[in-house]
Amino acid sequence: MIHYLEHRRTWIIETDQAAYGLGLTETGQLIHLYFGESLPYHTDYPEPRDQHGWASFNSRADRNPEEYTGWGGVRYSEPCLKVEFHDHVRDLVLVYKEYVIQDGALVITLRDAHYPLEIRLNYKPFAELNLIQRTAEIVNTGEHPVDLEQVLSGELHLPAENHYRLSYLSGKWAGETQLRQIEMPDAKFILESRGGTTSHQTNPWFAMDPDGCSTEDYGKVFFGALAYSGNWKMVFEKRFGKIKASAGVHDFDFRWRLNAGETFAAPAFTIGYSAEGFGGASRQLHQYQLEYVLPRQTVRQDRKVLYNSWEATRFDVNEQDQIRLAELAATLGVELFVMDDGWFGRRNDDHAGLGDWTVNPEKFPNGLRPLIERVEELGMEFGIWVEPEMVNPDSDLYRRHPDWVYHFPNRVNSEMRNQLVLNLAREDVKQYLIGCLDRLLTENRIRFVKWDMNRLFSEPGYLDAPYEQQREIWVRHVRSLYDIVETLRKNHPDVHFQSCSGGGGRVDLGILELFDQVWVSDNTDAYDRLFIQEGYSYAYCAKTMESWVTAEQHWMNNRRLPLRFRFHVAMTGVLGIGENLHAWSEKEREEARGYVEAYKKVRSGIQNGRQYRLQSPKNNPVSSVMYVSEQQDTAVVFAFLYGNRNGDELRPLRLKGLDETKYYVLEGTEQRRSGKAWMSVGIELELKGDLDSCMLVLRADPSPNQ
Ligand code: DGJ
Repeated sequence: MIHYLEHRRTWIIETDQAAYGLGLTETGQLIHLYFGESLPYHTDYPEPRDQHGWASFNSRADRNPEEYTGWGGVRYSEPCLKVEFHDHVRDLVLVYKEYVIQDGALVITLRDAHYPLEIRLNYKPFAELNLIQRTAEIVNTGEHPVDLEQVLSGELHLPAENHYRLSYLSGKWAGETQLRQIEMPDAKFILESRGGTTSHQTNPWFAMDPDGCSTEDYGKVFFGALAYSGNWKMVFEKRFGKIKASAGVHDFDFRWRLNAGETFAAPAFTIGYSAEGFGGASRQLHQYQLEYVLPRQTVRQDRKVLYNSWEATRFDVNEQDQIRLAELAATLGVELFVMDDGWFGRRNDDHAGLGDWTVNPEKFPNGLRPLIERVEELGMEFGIWVEPEMVNPDSDLYRRHPDWVYHFPNRVNSEMRNQLVLNLAREDVKQYLIGCLDRLLTENRIRFVKWDMNRLFSEPGYLDAPYEQQREIWVRHVRSLYDIVETLRKNHPDVHFQSCSGGGGRVDLGILELFDQVWVSDNTDAYDRLFIQEGYSYAYCAKTMESWVTAEQHWMNNRRLPLRFRFHVAMTGVLGIGENLHAWSEKEREEARGYVEAYKKVRSGIQNGRQYRLQSPKNNPVSSVMYVSEQQDTAVVFAFLYGNRNGDELRPLRLKGLDETKYYVLEGTEQRRSGKAWMSVGIELELKGDLDSCMLVLRADPSPNQ
């Protein structure tokens, strides 16, 4: 619900448990008033009052917690908006214009006091999830162009506390989404990406808890996530003892010419409040993705058990070998067979072929049809790998169009993995890619596309564009990517898409509007995965988290991991198998079949249920995660032991999220207890030795008490 209190010039946005307040001060500044637990009466919320700067160095404007700071006057905090008008004035003076409540959202319009420029701030609450999705639109209502130098989506002011702990996701290729927590310093702390895509190093998600004392289940957590897959930044500042968090498109090398009548839409910044610790915050974001973000046409479908050929064959794919793998995969119960890199152009290694999206005639003399038909005969669907935004200099496409990549004259085009980035800001490049991919999907019964991206941007030049638009490439690239996938999804509604960028380099709320699932990391070492996947779960739901079972002795750390452990780790998300199946003995295949079968029985609860992190791999000998179905009638629990020490006894695993009064039976045993008992007494785990694991299933038993 959104309320406007006329006499106080205040808006209150209420969700089921939280509230967000903003209002106009005596001098007409739109400031933040409140964010946190909702209060009984509207008059309980603070009133909008100008702050006073007691020293000559502290201005009122700078001290007021503005809702959307325009750079100009005496302001020194991170601005949301910085512009240059046509007459080269670079000073913004934002004043309130009007508000409207429409389609369940509050839209407040600010305008410049002199120049014809408007800012529409949109606040859309999701009541039951205690989230607010914020966007900002910059509208040029005049006749002259305006240059935008920084446009963020919004800023968030946190209630005053002694200090806050900042949680964020950090990492690297093959070590993504590691949860980090620091005490927020009396300074500025920036999370960002400048490589053109979301990034392996940092992810556009954060959480803040007062005094660093919230836990997995208790305490206040404020959090936010950005729906954007290009250069982004999140800026955390502590000024005058208070915290402000701003987020949006990065201003690094950014400039946008906003012509008369045009609008620049900043990506959505979704903020939330949880009174149930980090677990509650994660579940709010998970539900948001399931109910509002993920592609609508496929979100209700359970994700299929897939096989991916990459670790088995690398680039060495051909019709016969792929058919042989598919035949083995089918015997395990796999439902989707995905052929990875190597099937197109002259692609025998990573030196050639990217850009030429036609089937390699030596490897597939009869096209893809015989393989796809065999895969379908075996009862599976067929999926394929592509990396459309890239080109190898050794490709027909590059030989025809060397000017289709980002580049500067008199400079070398830096290659990474022997490839260059196509200039998707160009309409002809965008249309070329739509054409190639649309043809591929029209001519072949492909039901799954793994969309990869294996390098960052460099030499981001587009000097054929008008000078004032040349720095728009960063944003235009992302928008073209979204447009291409949107067009393909419209034309081929049965096709699922996976976002991959050398693993988890491109996962964010923006990409998840168009992609059904994510390749979380190239690191498939199941032990490392526990940490990567735990971090991932803070921001993203299990239904998007694709995880494969691969070789026993893993290439990453040379560690040996039992098949059971590898399967259980992969079963906590969307199960896949990426191992060379010829290397498995019949006994291993038999075992694998059992896991696939068991997964299929419970996957709906894993993929669509509520996730509870029971014990973290960081500080427990046993880590554990569980999923409870929406009706609270089924629960699936995974537990992982790394190694027994000193014969220590494992403490019982206390469950979460069950209905306290329902009876639940632990499958495969006679044990029947109330949800409350499973949660307070817990389960005795029978794990022993090194790298042991288990999956336990509890089902509600409606029969009366015995
Ligand atoms: C990087 C991906 O993360 C891998 O899974 C695989 O698809 C390779 N690219 C193929 O080149």
